[in-house]
Amino acid sequence: MIGYVALSPYRKGRRAFSHTCEISYYLFSGYRGRGFGKELVRTALSAAREAGFETAIAIILGCNLRSIRLLEGFGFSVCGTSPTRPAWMARGSTMSIWRLI
Ligand SMILES: CC(C)(COP(=O)(O)OP(=O)(O)OC[C@H]1O[C@@H](n2cnc3c(N)ncnc32)[C@H](O)[C@@H]1OP(=O)(O)O)[C@@H](O)C(=O)NCCC(=O)NCCS
Repeated sequence: MIGYVALSPYRKGRRAFSHTCEISYYLFSGYRGRGFGKELVRTALSAAREAGFETAIAIILGCNLRSIRLLEGFGFSVCGTSPTRPAWMARGSTMSIWRLI
């Protein structure tokens, strides 16, 4: 195993979000920057469309430039940002919700 991609209903049980899914993914460090991330997201978005989802969201830290570039490449854009402080960081960062309709 070199990583994963997961799709899940966003706020399951809420009718207002019944067409929205959340995507999350992770690749172990030795496998990054080789196109696997793009392949994971492409496969997940295709499965999401087949399952009837109309909107996909991803929640990403502002410092995660690689993930941001990846999402931008698929047409995602930011729809909300909040300050946050990940446990491993001394100073604050931001956390954004990225959305693809
Ligand atoms: C984010 C992640 C999945 C990206 O996967 P990846 O295989 O490294 O990315 P890819 O090689 O498919 O490249 C996808 C895009 O990312 C960007 N990218 C790749 N390497 C990059 C780097 N070193 N710096 C900045 N952007 C980079 C590029 O825009 C690239 O698209 P392009 O080749 O068309 O220019 C992977 O790096 C990862 O698992 N990171 C840690 C976990 C994480 O961030 N999870 C997200 C929270 S849900």
